[in-house]
Amino acid sequence: MPESAVCRICGGEVTAFMDFGEQPVSDCFLPPGSTAPEHFYRLVVGACSACTMVQLLHEVARARMFHEDYPYHSSGSAHMREHFRRVAEHFLATELTADDAFIVELGCNDGVMLRTIAEAGVRHLGVEPSGSVADITAARGIRVRKDFFEEATARSILAEDGRAAVIYAANTLCHIPYMGSVLDGVRELLAPDGVFVFEDPYFADIVRQTSFDQIYDEHFYYFTARSVAAMARGHGLELVDVERLPVHGGEVRYTLVREGVRERSAAVGDLLAAEEAAELTARPTLEAFADRVRTARADLTGLLRDLRARGEEVVGYGATAKSATVLNYCGIGPDLIAYVTDSTPAKQGRLTPGSHIPVVPPQRFADARPRYAVLFAWNHAEEIMAKEEAFRAAGGRWIRYVPGVRVD
Ligand code: SAM
Ligand code: TMP
Ligand code: ZN
Repeated sequence: MPESAVCRICGGEVTAFMDFGEQPVSDCFLPPGSTAPEHFYRLVVGACSACTMVQLLHEVARARMFHEDYPYHSSGSAHMREHFRRVAEHFLATELTADDAFIVELGCNDGVMLRTIAEAGVRHLGVEPSGSVADITAARGIRVRKDFFEEATARSILAEDGRAAVIYAANTLCHIPYMGSVLDGVRELLAPDGVFVFEDPYFADIVRQTSFDQIYDEHFYYFTARSVAAMARGHGLELVDVERLPVHGGEVRYTLVREGVRERSAAVGDLLAAEEAAELTARPTLEAFADRVRTARADLTGLLRDLRARGEEVVGYGATAKSATVLNYCGIGPDLIAYVTDSTPAKQGRLTPGSHIPVVPPQRFADARPRYAVLFAWNHAEEIMAKEEAFRAAGGRWIRYVPGVRVD
């Protein structure tokens, strides 16, 4: 019998479809020589038979993930900086034209989106619990509150700043298990005709590409239009627009409003129909996905063992949170991957969680010219390929595992 749990959205029954075993906290990079025991949890993902929401069965306490040393910096990708500049400009031209308009961003990280809003002189507030990145935001002259967003936070913001025309969250809402409190807070804080816009990895893209590394502790929910519409309804909100985004391996931007205040766009009906036709959360679809994940593990470990047997040096590119699932689920350690290169100073000089592979700066990768590199930051492939032309030109080969293992 597969493991089951109570749905965090509707109270229905969540049945597991994939068990990745014991996993470390994905963004918890270790100082070298660290003797403190790592925290492990069981990474199991399932779907609710009532509201269809795909979710983890076990939660990691938020303070273990989002704290003073949280090492993820959103501004690390030029492509994502441009994406968020466009998001901000869109809001400035549409929802934020009134004199006193106010925007709140949940999970503003290092201020990658809000910097454009602040430069335009528009009233704003970022809510960001991770001290390391909240401090960067504040240093950029952006208003930030070092806090977790939930209903109590919303009430306090409402008392200080009044209602928001826009509440925005990128790659953050899916990180929050206590969704009821967040959505109640959003409804209270939102202006009567305000919009709650959020973008997160799209479960249909995860299934389509077998991007199993999107599944890790921070990604508690894996949204679809159907599950988001159901979740919104439960809190007096309504899904009125969806837009597919080509970032981070495929996302959807959802727009929620108070029930009945705006027309629903045709795109919502189209996406709901496509999801239904694909039987996205039907048991056979989920079991076939799990089979493909097991195949990817066998193919990747087989390839890496083969390369080691031939004496080839293999390294990793991008110490992503996603890579924690790949490395720990596949049992890959420093014996198979010598080091992982990453441009984030907060990750360099540390060891990857659970798998204990050293993280090194990009210069080491450029100087050492290894033969093979596993592209863990595959969602930034275009940007990285352009930057690392010299690696390919010198005969270097990229190893990818999404969608399926290949060397090119
Ligand atoms: N929005 C940025 C982006 O898209 O690159 C940051 C995404 S980062 C993966 C998720 C962020 O959400 C982290 O900076 C984390 O500290 C923050 N976060 C986690 N729980 C939160 C909560 N309850 N309220 C606000 N932010 C939260
Ligand atoms: P993400 O996939 O969660 O956005 O994480 C990407 C990681 O890859 C992050 O640690 C930064 C790193 N990275 C590089 O090392 N070089 C690059 O060119 C890019 C875009 C990201
Ligand atoms: Zn449910």
